[in-house]
Amino acid sequence: MEKIKIGVDYYPERWGEAMWESDAVRMKEAGIKVIRMAEFAWCKVEPEEGRFELDWLVRAVNLFGSYGIQTILCTPTNCAPLWLYEKYPETLQVQRDGKRTYPGVRSHRCYNSPIYRLFVERIIRKMSRVFAGNPYVAAWQIDNEVDAAFCCCDVCAEKFRGWLKEKYGTLDEINRVFGNEVWSGSYSSWTQIQPPLGDRPLVQYNPAYLLDFQRFASDGVVEYVRFQANLLRETFPDLPITTNTWYCDYMPDFYDLFEELDICSYDNYPSFEISEEGYSSHAFHLDMMRGVKRRNFWIMEQLGGAIGGCWMPMGKTPRPGVLKGMALQAIAHGADQVLHFRWRSSTTGAEMYWHGILDQNNIPGRKYRELQDLCRTIEKQKGLEETTILSKVAILCSFDSEYAWKLQTQAEGFYYLEQLQALHAAFTGYGLNVDIIHEEAPLDEYEIVAAPAVYVRNRKTARQLHKFAEKGGMVILTARSGVKDENNNCIMEAMPAGYREMTGCQVEEYDGIGHETNTVIMDGIAYPVTQWCEILQVDRAETIAVYGGEFYAGAPAVTRNRYGAGSVYYIGTVGKPSFYEALAKKMLEEKKMRFTTELPARVEMTVRENDEKQFVFLFNNDKKEKRFVLEGTTIELQPFEMKIQEKIKTK
Ligand code: GLA
Repeated sequence: MEKIKIGVDYYPERWGEAMWESDAVRMKEAGIKVIRMAEFAWCKVEPEEGRFELDWLVRAVNLFGSYGIQTILCTPTNCAPLWLYEKYPETLQVQRDGKRTYPGVRSHRCYNSPIYRLFVERIIRKMSRVFAGNPYVAAWQIDNEVDAAFCCCDVCAEKFRGWLKEKYGTLDEINRVFGNEVWSGSYSSWTQIQPPLGDRPLVQYNPAYLLDFQRFASDGVVEYVRFQANLLRETFPDLPITTNTWYCDYMPDFYDLFEELDICSYDNYPSFEISEEGYSSHAFHLDMMRGVKRRNFWIMEQLGGAIGGCWMPMGKTPRPGVLKGMALQAIAHGADQVLHFRWRSSTTGAEMYWHGILDQNNIPGRKYRELQDLCRTIEKQKGLEETTILSKVAILCSFDSEYAWKLQTQAEGFYYLEQLQALHAAFTGYGLNVDIIHEEAPLDEYEIVAAPAVYVRNRKTARQLHKFAEKGGMVILTARSGVKDENNNCIMEAMPAGYREMTGCQVEEYDGIGHETNTVIMDGIAYPVTQWCEILQVDRAETIAVYGGEFYAGAPAVTRNRYGAGSVYYIGTVGKPSFYEALAKKMLEEKKMRFTTELPARVEMTVRENDEKQFVFLFNNDKKEKRFVLEGTTIELQPFEMKIQEKIKTK
């Protein structure tokens, strides 16, 4: 197995050849083992249509290689050169207002454009020929931060019609499924099916149509990435291929996106201003990334300096310990490579104020020394690369629910992913590893499975959860479960549809209270709740908590039901961290699982292990020092410090 590597993102096209060698020397001195290059370099490798200049990139790869630094090469297809857009404007995305995206920034390509695909294929074939057999190319990254934004061009419109035809066959069936008679929206010809063009907010469009358009947009990106991966595999069958994903407004379905790629990778910019309230540890995102392929992942871009510039006002510079600590946090959650964005802050271009390890002055300073320290720490930690994270608690994630929820505003401040985050924070607070996995993933290895807000019905998920509980597992369901069918239409049944038998309760009425608060009383303690309150009618379940206020004061808010050999909790409202902590403790005690109550707030504990060894990571995700006793030993952690304890497992 390859060693864990620390690296940086590097832009040789920006710096000119004269600087490369001194950069390589400094990187080597820092302990850098890998760099990423070329994701935006298309205008330098094909300056004119059909004229390729790749020698400079080969020289860069070889030079860094000679210093023991491997390259993850990128297909440069995020930004095509301007000559391409000028000559073939139909390769630019069309926005919802019907206008083509302005080509002077980045990420303007239409993934479905056949002409764009031709040029993509040509540049990939050229690069493949030139880098075939190059010993310094360690992996490929496809494009950069692909998203499933809504392109409304004619090609996408026609492709969407084909997508619907394949799924539903006839216009009559589409009209039936979408319920198109509402607002007189029935299609009488295929040409009436359009992308969501227009100036009306998306939420005013038909939800069934919108969810399908979002699925179609995601499928298009997935297909585009697969198209590139297949081309690369012709020449590089043994090299890992990835694409760097991120959390954005139009996320492609991560599980589909990485299905045919070798490794999941992610761009990680954790905040080091942790708010007093809320569930903002980046550990959630990291666990979600590990769950995408249910194995370790890479970080292609990691916080390297103050963020900001063209995307937002400049933020604070990372405090001492933040760069190293946050990189180790990613490793603690399963990252096997961490590349920092970027080696040096740019002196030109819109993003000049998104800072790197070196500032524009090119003088190695505090951030460089911290990177060097990180590399040394990793170098010393032998055997870490052969370990992964084993969890007894899983949280299920559904992109259908995420999409459907986002497309149709629920109560103010009420978000799908935050329902997952709340439970993640509660269980990890007790020092447990937690997996976040696809809703259809196998559940055999878990003791507790939370399926928060299973909003859009998935029959396989429901079947698996029933079986899991029958066999003795504990299931947690939360508000807004069993609401929509697969087409994003409401189910004419009591909620949680498909889960009432296992929950032993049903939703009598619901109240979207948004930013207002109510309380629930549990074990004699009042906990504030907000956003959403479901008034539960208990059939067979026992009541765990009741509402403290409103016309439904005294009505059940949280229930627990025995089902088969297991149990099922239903949480009909949205609490604050203390509420979920109390619930999680109750659940862990019921399952007689090992957990610790000794971790102070914002100290995170994870374990990477294999058959022989365990590496226990203790991370202070806070700007205040921490001092506490864990299993009889006093531990002191500086702000953002990570301590790694190695333990040999007893057989
Ligand atoms: C993203 C992109 C990078 C860069 C960084 C910082 O993660 O992939 O190209 O823009 O953000 O802004």
